[in-house]
Amino acid sequence: MDDFAYKDGRLHCEQVLVDAIAEKAGTPVYIYSARTLRSHLRRLNEAFAALKPLVCFSVKSCANLSVLKLLAEEGAGMDVVSGGELARALRAGVPASKCVFAGVGKTDAELEQALRAGIGLLNVESEAEFENLSVIAKRLGIRCDCALRINPDVDPKTHRYTSTGKKETKFGVDLERARAFFDRYGRDEFARLRGLHLHIGSPIYTIEPYIESVKKALALKDELERAGFTIDALDLGGGFGADYTTGQTPPVAEYAKAIVPMLVPHHARGLRMFLEPGRTIVGNAGILLTRVLYMKTSGDKRFAICDAGMQTLLRPSHYEAFHFIWPAAPAAEFIPESRTKIATMPGLSPCDVVGPICESGDFLAIDRALPPLARGDLLAVFTAGAYGMTMASRYNSSPLPAEVLVHGDRFEVVRRRESYDDLMAHELPLGGGAAPRDGAASTPGAGARGGASTSPSRR
Ligand code: LLP
Repeated sequence: MDDFAYKDGRLHCEQVLVDAIAEKAGTPVYIYSARTLRSHLRRLNEAFAALKPLVCFSVKSCANLSVLKLLAEEGAGMDVVSGGELARALRAGVPASKCVFAGVGKTDAELEQALRAGIGLLNVESEAEFENLSVIAKRLGIRCDCALRINPDVDPKTHRYTSTGKKETKFGVDLERARAFFDRYGRDEFARLRGLHLHIGSPIYTIEPYIESVKKALALKDELERAGFTIDALDLGGGFGADYTTGQTPPVAEYAKAIVPMLVPHHARGLRMFLEPGRTIVGNAGILLTRVLYMKTSGDKRFAICDAGMQTLLRPSHYEAFHFIWPAAPAAEFIPESRTKIATMPGLSPCDVVGPICESGDFLAIDRALPPLARGDLLAVFTAGAYGMTMASRYNSSPLPAEVLVHGDRFEVVRRRESYDDLMAHELPLGGGAAPRDGAASTPGAGARGGASTSPSRR
């Protein structure tokens, strides 16, 4: 599943002790395993091999350039949803021809940027967007391949905020309108509509919604082909689960086993396949490491107040998402055998794991059974590689955390922790002139929120 494991009672990423990373890079810090990233991408490619898909990593899940570069070197393309993500993909060395561009609200500038770069597939989400794209492509004299994002009206049975395949969401075009869409725009000379795109939600832990939506997409494809259109690209989107609680997530091979046979005959007749996975590649490939600043009790409640909070990892507070959390160096009796066996361990008691932000909604876990904790302990928040750093904010003027990539027995800081100067770099001082660079304020002090808080000693 991943390369984070307790060896001799201490948490390691591959062969690196995570304490060593905290010492060098401070906390909070996101830590990614190169080996896990590679193995997850390979596993996907193997599972879907019969369709030879272009696996376009979803940049929104983890946008660090070093992560993108590593995946690109393994052959991945990129799924982007903004000009910024496209710029990142290109900077990481991914050719635009291996990028797919989705999103309901692409600006004129972003469409022009994608066309000029030579985007591989432009996924269009509405009639109005297509008309705009068509005008821009014609003006620039640039042809591009487009896919229509269809909304198959399938329930992915996931959180309502990330459920995108139901008719009442803003995404794509419903099946009835899709036919009319091709009649109206399917012969555009510059914006060449020749594909279908699906992305029904994230994460999806059951396979049926995929089967249902692929069936609907293929029925539409057949119908469009009978009407004389060429459909030679099918983008299935992303949404495969990550393992937040061991045992609940079907392996990608299970999804593939159900989906691939339906598509093989179409692939044999020239259908190019695209996938846009994010979470299933990077979710388990990353952890967030945070340090306990203070322990506190209030009434019956025990709180571990950490240097990471909703500004660092928004998922628990925004989606009430579960992330397994455990000390990086637990006492001998608390070394976990697996992520499911802990609940029965004697000696655990409920604890709210919270951040420093001034909101009651600032938490990483509520009433979580945890061992005794003390100031200075390091806590690992697992399965944080996807939608962790990319959704981090500077709320409460917290500098963004560092990111570290581990390769075997080495690690490198692939994004340095922000300084206070970074925080204020884009703001003009009152009265004009250059922004002051106050040396004293330039580096968050040890122990400062978001700063390199290696200071509190253990216990
Ligand atoms: N393709 C499209 C068009 C998408 O909108 C998404 C995710 C993906 C691919 C990648 O989905 P994945 O394979 O990573 O599940 N912030 C939320 C997740 C939002 C997903 C948005 N779209 C979270 O933290 O759970």
